[in-house]
Amino acid sequence: MSADTLVQQILDYDNRADPYPLYAELRRTPVARQHDGVYAVSTYWEILGLLHDPRISSDARNRDPLAGGPPLAEDDPNLPPSFIRLDPPEHDRVRRMVTRPFGPPVSPRRIHDMRGELAQMVSALIDGFDGKDRIDLVEDFAYPFPVKVISKLLGVPHEDEPLFHRWAEAIVAGLDFGTDQDPEERVRNAQQARIELGRYLAGLIEEHRRLPGDDMFSALATDRSADGQLSAIELIVTGVLLLIAGHETTVNLITNGMLTLLRNPDVLKRLRDDPALAPRLVEELLRFEPPVQFLPQRTCLADIDVAGTTIPKGSPIWLFLASGNRDPRRFHDPDRFTPERLDNQHLGFGSSIHYCFGAPLARLEAQLALTELARRLGDPQLVEDPPPYRSNPVLRGPRHLQLAFSGLAP
Ligand code: HEM
Repeated sequence: MSADTLVQQILDYDNRADPYPLYAELRRTPVARQHDGVYAVSTYWEILGLLHDPRISSDARNRDPLAGGPPLAEDDPNLPPSFIRLDPPEHDRVRRMVTRPFGPPVSPRRIHDMRGELAQMVSALIDGFDGKDRIDLVEDFAYPFPVKVISKLLGVPHEDEPLFHRWAEAIVAGLDFGTDQDPEERVRNAQQARIELGRYLAGLIEEHRRLPGDDMFSALATDRSADGQLSAIELIVTGVLLLIAGHETTVNLITNGMLTLLRNPDVLKRLRDDPALAPRLVEELLRFEPPVQFLPQRTCLADIDVAGTTIPKGSPIWLFLASGNRDPRRFHDPDRFTPERLDNQHLGFGSSIHYCFGAPLARLEAQLALTELARRLGDPQLVEDPPPYRSNPVLRGPRHLQLAFSGLAP
């Protein structure tokens, strides 16, 4: 079987529930050129090397239009890219400014201080299961929880949360190479949703500028640092990025987490007996079932040699994080879910300058959620295994996860 057809199979929805055997085959050719000009990189050390290589760009404007690859929603000529799609020095300037109200050194306590509030949100959502013996973990918990958290953090009014559902879905569908939908239409819809969400945010940010509260949008709209101030349009595209990242990734970590725990009941029991296991368990989940399976937006700025292959300047590169996480040359017994794994430098949050900005928040959300679900749900069971998956092969996770249980611990 050729490596080209392997990537097509990975994108194929029929393989969404278990792409891991395909990744194992893909790793036989660490750098595999596809028919459409994309270079697929699937082994741990090669991915890590490229993530740290300044000759690799995250900015789609560096792509050679003749080099091939499917169209990406970020190629929108009307909006500047958000910092996930910028290179240094622009990337570093914007990331530094957005970090000021979020983490060290200016706001070292921001996430720590949200812990109590996050725990309350988790409890309230689980209290809502009272009187039921079956839930859809996605609809009833794993989606609403991170949405509440990111809205609170940024300063989006609670009553506007439902507005985001449709926008967020359309925007991430822009990354969905797995559907039969016309790729141009998929990108157009994503761009339209981006514009609508941007318009909403422009109004919201203006309100926060006039009447600032204790939230990130207020801080970003009024802050002035050595780097100056974010422009209105930079603030809006950053807002879109944070809202989408907050909506579409942690839901999969929590859902993949519960699915994995229910498939490994001994680990579920250990977590129930010893909540201190949670931090390492979440790291192992990020390795074993990463919510971001691959990064399809990198471009080569020069001809570069990787594992005996020359990737020509201007070529699109796809970095298969989920495959690197299962590379036996890096991880012992990689297909086993081992929460006590010590040497666990997984690629679940990427690496280097674009390392996930929201990682401390996502970790805390998943740790609190899984610990409380394990503690409170009486004898939880999977109703359907495998569950139905979302179509997206990049942001991969179950669309629904039906759980049966008997009673709730207080
Ligand atoms: C389990 C949940 C999450 C996972 C698995 C995840 C994964 C990732 C990955 C793999 C990257 C690297 C992208 C690249 O190199 O191109 C990234 C970047 C990013 N993430 Fe997350 N993420 C998660 C949650 C969040 C949350 C909750 C936020 C917002 C608060 C967030 C905000 C960002 C931002 C802004 C970037 C871009 C960083 C940069 O370019 O410097 N993420 N994330």
